[in-house]
Amino acid sequence: MKSSKRVLGIVASPRSSGNTATLVKEVLKGAEENGNKTDLKCLGDLNINPLIASTSDNESVWSTYSNKPYGVTCPKDDMDLVYSSLEKMDVLVFGTPIYFDHVSARAKIFVDRLIYYDKESTKDRFPRNVRVVIIITYEDDNLEAYSSVVEWIKHTLEEYFKMKVVATLVAEDTVKNPVANREDLLEKARQIGKKL
Ligand SMILES: Cc1cc2nc3c(=O)[nH]c(=O)nc-3n(C[C@H](O)[C@H](O)[C@H](O)COP(=O)(O)O)c2cc1C
Repeated sequence: MKSSKRVLGIVASPRSSGNTATLVKEVLKGAEENGNKTDLKCLGDLNINPLIASTSDNESVWSTYSNKPYGVTCPKDDMDLVYSSLEKMDVLVFGTPIYFDHVSARAKIFVDRLIYYDKESTKDRFPRNVRVVIIITYEDDNLEAYSSVVEWIKHTLEEYFKMKVVATLVAEDTVKNPVANREDLLEKARQIGKKL
């Protein structure tokens, strides 16, 4: 049956045609084949900065646990483009390369910047019941090497942002075997997209 969800791809690699981007795009391709609308944001093409110090409590993000200001705020930058895409999504396809045994800095900054929705004035703008596809790519040839990173992404998106991870795609050994040459992985990605 055809579906009509809005599927947002986030590529947290500096390379907008690298291994991570290739797999995120294939998932989107599968999703489009099934009638869904897609949107893609390659974080490497955007100017997205870490949180900065706030000058007043008014401006600061407040902790929902202790009801006190964290003393930080979101800088004004290209994350605004990402926020407007996030607010329309039904499904998030989140891809990151592994850098030094964890997600890339861009992936972490993206997650930190979601604290924008931890405010009375913005919390209703974050969509509910978002389903997530996690994609990680890396050089190590062990398919289990970064299971803990997948778990971290899943925990963060499910616990803090109430999303539901529905599929995970792992591409190992990407330096010797770039994913663009691996039809099995590309097909797996398209099938995940088709089933969204
Ligand atoms: C700064 C940096 C750190 C990396 N650290 C790791 C690592 O800890 N483990 C690993 O298996 N691969 C590591 N890699 C390899 C990348 O994860 C791999 O090439 C990935 O597929 C790149 O994705 P991309 O083509 O989307 O940029 C690292 C690459 C870079 C540039």
